[in-house]
Amino acid sequence: MFNIEEFDIKLDTDFIGRNFIYSDEVDSTNSLLLTKKDFNIDGTVLLAEFQRSGRGRKNRTWISNAGQNLTFSILLINEIKENKANHINLGASLAVAQALENLYQLNVELKWPNDVLVSKKKISGILIESSSKGSKINRLVVGIGINVNQPNFPGKFEIQPTSIRKEFKSTVSREKLLSEILNNFEIIYYQLKKNATKILNDWRNRCKLIGEKIKIVEEDKILNGVFEDIDEDGFLLLKVGNKIEKIYFGDVSLR
Ligand code: BTN
Repeated sequence: MFNIEEFDIKLDTDFIGRNFIYSDEVDSTNSLLLTKKDFNIDGTVLLAEFQRSGRGRKNRTWISNAGQNLTFSILLINEIKENKANHINLGASLAVAQALENLYQLNVELKWPNDVLVSKKKISGILIESSSKGSKINRLVVGIGINVNQPNFPGKFEIQPTSIRKEFKSTVSREKLLSEILNNFEIIYYQLKKNATKILNDWRNRCKLIGEKIKIVEEDKILNGVFEDIDEDGFLLLKVGNKIEKIYFGDVSLR
């Protein structure tokens, strides 16, 4: 059971997670926050113990044992410009990384656009989705899945999963972890509103692939090049020959 009181005591935010919805089972926390217009408080967090159809990027599924991990979404309903959504995407993975470093001293690596890795294995994934009104985004949902206390991951995966329990060699408090992530996320969110430079640099510092030869798989297209940098909007800059190509989507791997 998730102890809401314990979570609440540690929550130190103005608005993120102040409206907190706890649910046993949903289809997907992202789908629910995005489509159900009754949810209309900025910063609402919906946590589910189990998702019947948890979703990942590129129509993948997110599978997570009931009651052992964290699967939650954050609703942002202030008007958000398109390029800011991308910043929030990187910012969310940074918030998770900082929490794993601060609480468990894990050596975290970030993979563009928003995978969180420990020992080259995936410990957390983020799916950001939005609905728009005219040219502005009016609902943005930041969905975060973290493998917390799950002891093993049977099956075949593109990137091998791991959990905090496996890496830290102990079960940990999901309440403390969630509050730490939301606390970090709010600070990052405020910082992004002013100026994204620091957050982009903090993200860069945790991305070990910058400068490496990488392969980008984007639907049926494969691109080989050198991971030059991310630009000021958070898109990947790939050096192919003498040209720099801007990458908006895709999966990155080492060549
Ligand atoms: C990925 O790595 O492809 C992203 C995974 C995102 C999973 C989270 S779990 C909470 C939220 N609800 C969903 O259906 N997906 C996200």
